[in-house]
Amino acid sequence: METKIFTEKEIKQASILLKQGELLGIPTETVYGLAGNGLDGEVVEKIFVAKGRPSDNPLILHIASSDWMLRYCENIPCKAWTLAEKFWPGPLTLILQAKDCVPEIVRGGLPTVGVRCPNHPLALALLEETDLPLAAPSGNLSGKPSPTSAMAMLEDMSGKISGILDGGDCEVGVESTILAFMPEPCLLRVGGIGIEALETVLGEKISVFSGKEVNKPMAPGMKYRHYAPKAKVTVVQGKDSAQWIASRMDSGDGVICFQEYEGLFPSVEKQIIGKEKDFTTQAKQVFSALRYFDSCEVTHIWAQCPEEKDLGRAVANRLEKASGFQIVHTEIEGPK
Ligand code: TXA
Ligand code: MG
Repeated sequence: METKIFTEKEIKQASILLKQGELLGIPTETVYGLAGNGLDGEVVEKIFVAKGRPSDNPLILHIASSDWMLRYCENIPCKAWTLAEKFWPGPLTLILQAKDCVPEIVRGGLPTVGVRCPNHPLALALLEETDLPLAAPSGNLSGKPSPTSAMAMLEDMSGKISGILDGGDCEVGVESTILAFMPEPCLLRVGGIGIEALETVLGEKISVFSGKEVNKPMAPGMKYRHYAPKAKVTVVQGKDSAQWIASRMDSGDGVICFQEYEGLFPSVEKQIIGKEKDFTTQAKQVFSALRYFDSCEVTHIWAQCPEEKDLGRAVANRLEKASGFQIVHTEIEGPK
């Protein structure tokens, strides 16, 4: 199958393919998604196959506006409406009780479904044009870093899907924040909206689900290794992390560093993800930085890690997961 790149002008063609049950890469503000008709179990099954995704890991339904929640969800808590009003379209996924029309395969067998209204004009246009909820996981092969451009998605999906609608580079760059109601709000994935912003709107503290509480993780995706490039990744946290890395790395190692420290790594394969406190730029760059190393000979990547605050928390989380939680703390490890 040839995977065609569609442009903004070809949105009508793209929507026809989706209505015919084809799979399509779609741009969102977070990452590119691998989309199909979320009401058709057979189409959704093709998504799992194309990604190589375990079948117990449910998908998010993308919707055109908050009133579409009524089509696919029931017993919607007031707090969900409040958050949808404030943050949609945007990088927030709400886990709600699913109506029977949502196929079991979308929900990974759970009684709930994740819904989100994406903040990208082309995604919204496709949703309006098809009038379908689009089931879409991130458009990477299972386990790889999420794609933040059409070309990055093509690397993983070429020959596997009908096309990719090119909507440019993703504005946010990390996936949506996922919030469940248990019945109190509980964060399942840190993402494009900081927990601080959610707490401000709800006027309450939000607990973060670590996945350790019960045997079966609430967000099934939490138990799988994620975002991993081919090379081994080590995340370095704490004071003077750049100096610490520079003094320890072997020739041939690569580094993901903040702009302030690039001078410490003169002849090294490196990816600069932004200034130390510029979490917005870091979020935009982190996945393309991880993907970059798959195209070079580096076998070990060292990564500086941002402070776990606002969007920095999501960037840190993606790097930590990419490392398989190979994390060192400079203060604990001490000088060389
Ligand atoms: O930003 C995003 O959320 C992107 C774009 C394409 O919208 N999508 C995305 O989908 O990241 P995916 O499938 O890569 O991650 C969705 C996560 C998975 O970890 C899954 O386990 C969790 O959401 N999830 C989906 N439905 C769920 C449910 N009913 N209950 C708990 N977790 C759920
Ligand atoms: Mg994903």
